[in-house]
Amino acid sequence: KKVVLAYSGGLDTSIILKWLETEYGCEVVTFTADLGQGEELEPARAKAELMGVKDIYIEDVREEFVRDFVFPMFRANAVYEGLYLLGTSIARPLISKRLIEIAEEVGADAIAHGATGKGNDQVRFELAAYALNPDIKVIAPWREWDLTSRTKLLDFAEQHQIPIAKDKRGEAPFSVDANLLHTSSEGKVLEDPAVSAPDYVYQRTVAPEDAPNEPEFIEVGFERGDAASINGKAMSPATILTKLNELGGKHGIGRLDFVENRFVGMKSRGIYETPGGSVLLEAHRGIEQITLDSGAGHLKDSLMPRYAELIYNGFWFSPEREMLQAAIDKSQEHVTGTVRLKLYKGAATCVGRWSDHSLYSEAHVTFEDDAGAYDQKDAAGFIQLNALRLKLLAARARRLKK
Ligand code: ARG
Ligand code: SIN
Repeated sequence: KKVVLAYSGGLDTSIILKWLETEYGCEVVTFTADLGQGEELEPARAKAELMGVKDIYIEDVREEFVRDFVFPMFRANAVYEGLYLLGTSIARPLISKRLIEIAEEVGADAIAHGATGKGNDQVRFELAAYALNPDIKVIAPWREWDLTSRTKLLDFAEQHQIPIAKDKRGEAPFSVDANLLHTSSEGKVLEDPAVSAPDYVYQRTVAPEDAPNEPEFIEVGFERGDAASINGKAMSPATILTKLNELGGKHGIGRLDFVENRFVGMKSRGIYETPGGSVLLEAHRGIEQITLDSGAGHLKDSLMPRYAELIYNGFWFSPEREMLQAAIDKSQEHVTGTVRLKLYKGAATCVGRWSDHSLYSEAHVTFEDDAGAYDQKDAAGFIQLNALRLKLLAARARRLKK
């Protein structure tokens, strides 16, 4: 019996590793992904080796993450409940996909993850896994074991000779999930939504008030809805997001303090930092402004909340998400061109946009003489017909008042 574990190399997933061996008596295969969380992966390998793991998978999936998950999502301008850029939500399906593929490679019949039984992540990992392999077994130790307190966890670690970093002996201050798109922090000191988050929670952005006093201007080039260059230099998807993170972080862009509705019913408060993603969203909206038709754009905007909710709730691998994706991708055929952005004290602002695919017609919109491009007389009939039912309604209201 074998199980493939999503392994970070941290204390909690190391405890899970041991617990799976002792409780289920199965061989554990570990999978550690570099999603751009900014941590070295070699320590995770060393730790897995130390714990006697034979099959250790360690992979850099940053390009796949940005190209096949983040960028498709950004084509939709997806935002959950008006504010959250879905940084954790979009990474889970990729991890599950690799867990399932590895399970098939090594002949494992189960996968395991370290998400708690209270949150969204368990739902995302598992819905994705079942969508890709209906027969897979999923083990979620947090829903099963009796290690219900920090003390019990640490005792278990000690009993099984799992090394505990000094700073992990005390109470962990909050729970962090990070990747190339964002860092999210939840729990502990952040649990009371009335209390401001302490400064030390923020890890990859400076405070806007400490950001440079001089604005910085950059140009982002798009091809069919995806960012393809910065300042005229073509770059791979992960390189672009890395670069935008650097720029955004430096200017204090993409901080969010937010109370959201989890899929499992409760509200939770989180601190998010999405520097590059916030710049990218502003840039993408900027290029869409001139390249998208209004009918296509308004339809796409109306589909967005539904699309974002599907990703939040863990339905990345579902027919309805794929249907919406097909429509969104179709809308991006002409979303090619360049935007100029101003980065300054916590904000990314689109201050210029141009494209060979632009629908913007200065000839039509100008306040100056338009040389016959547009006949203002056409507007009179347009308004009369649109006003017809409003006039009938107003006439009735007057009649009944008498
Ligand atoms: N609330 C966010 C989401 O559901 C983040 C969850 C994981 N974050 C964490 N700090 N453990 O997508
Ligand atoms: C967790 O519960 O493991 C993290 C938070 C979430 O999944 O919503």
